[in-house]
Amino acid sequence: MDKLIIRGGVPLNGEVSVSGAKNAVLPMLCASVMASDKHVILKNIPHLHDVTTTVRLLRQMGVSVTLDDNMNIQLDPSTIKNYYAPYDLVKTMRSSILVLGPLLSRFGSAKVSLPGGCAIGTRPVEMHLDALTQMGASIGIDNGYITASCKKLIGAEIRFSKTTVTGTENILMASTLAEGKTIISNAAREPEVVDLANFLNKMGASITGHGTDIIEVTGVEKLRGVSYSALPDRIETGTFLVAAAITGGCVTVKNTISSHVSTIIEKLKLSGADITLTDTSITLDMKGKRPLAVDIETGAYPLFPTDMQAQLTALNTVAKGKSIIKENIFENRFMHVQEMTRMGADIRVENNCAKISGSEKLIGASVMATDLRASASLILAGLVATGITEIERIYHIDRGYDCIEEKLQQLGANISRVPV
Ligand code: EPZ
Repeated sequence: MDKLIIRGGVPLNGEVSVSGAKNAVLPMLCASVMASDKHVILKNIPHLHDVTTTVRLLRQMGVSVTLDDNMNIQLDPSTIKNYYAPYDLVKTMRSSILVLGPLLSRFGSAKVSLPGGCAIGTRPVEMHLDALTQMGASIGIDNGYITASCKKLIGAEIRFSKTTVTGTENILMASTLAEGKTIISNAAREPEVVDLANFLNKMGASITGHGTDIIEVTGVEKLRGVSYSALPDRIETGTFLVAAAITGGCVTVKNTISSHVSTIIEKLKLSGADITLTDTSITLDMKGKRPLAVDIETGAYPLFPTDMQAQLTALNTVAKGKSIIKENIFENRFMHVQEMTRMGADIRVENNCAKISGSEKLIGASVMATDLRASASLILAGLVATGITEIERIYHIDRGYDCIEEKLQQLGANISRVPV
């Protein structure tokens, strides 16, 4: 177990490069089992614990997985020998549910541990299971495992009652090898869903409408192995932009896609940041100013992303004025609030809203990370706090951020990782 130690008060300055998007790479790794010839080669892979866990999951199924020294991943599913995702792996990473659609579609069989909840919510998967049942799968729940089988999935008209990112991705992957046409209504529109669809189409799938709320898929006979580079991580991009804003610095985030973070940019401009864009880079200059409070309401893409809620909460704790943060996606995504309160933040949570009165400053303290994005928000608070902040349980942060302390050190942050 490690912890991070941060001495706050240093305005961040310089350039930082964004890694590949965790939430695009994880479904692509799972989709690779559907390739019936040659290898899948995935590039721009972030060095993350969730990627390592997914590779372990695929390897224990018998998929041959090799990493080259550029962190490109080569997968050969021809050696697969079981269709099983065990609890001991799934409990550490809920997105393992993403193997369900590919295994059912390619092999007609899957036994996947129910993911269970996590710190931010119960995280049910009934929409995934109902949609696969609609496509002809027989699905049972036995001793905490989803057991699923089918002769061949049949295309269907799927309408999700709520927008679900991995639900859309599971059905998108499952429908590529199904018989006939599948229409997914109320589909998720996240850039990671679009990237997955582009990857599947390059493998030979027939998908249209991705990026809108109605996706159409015509099943094909087989998918081939291809080489593909994942899109940059928009949440890492947003996190570094907030790091610049909260410390009053000037940072250029490179190798990103500015159009994927427009709602974040809009809010940071309202907080007083001076932002200049190119297609692949964003420069935020806070000019030493204290941010202005901004109200936030999360929603499915293209609305403000829930994965950036904790980071904007941190910014608002030191902003001028009052703000309200409304979390519409997850039922328990304010775990970072009580930790920030220990640093002097003035925040009250009422139902799915956090009401914040900005403080002149935060005071460094020992705090505990509870989930991935909460960890990031505590780092941001530590970067601006007076004195030393120690963040424990940072295995959460390692699931979703590639070498975050090295990247922050490059920008001048006084941050280090020490064993506990
Ligand atoms: C994905 O989770 C992301 N994870 C999450 O990122 C992200 O926060 C979330 O989408 C929302 O954008 C990956 O892509 C691996 P949902 P997912 O299904 O797909 C409810 C991060 O920090 N729901 O879109 O699990 C659900 O409880 C992670 O990188 C059902 O009720 O989220 C939630 O309230 C955290 N039944 C809402 O829908 C279902 O069957 C949206 O969840 C499925 C979902």
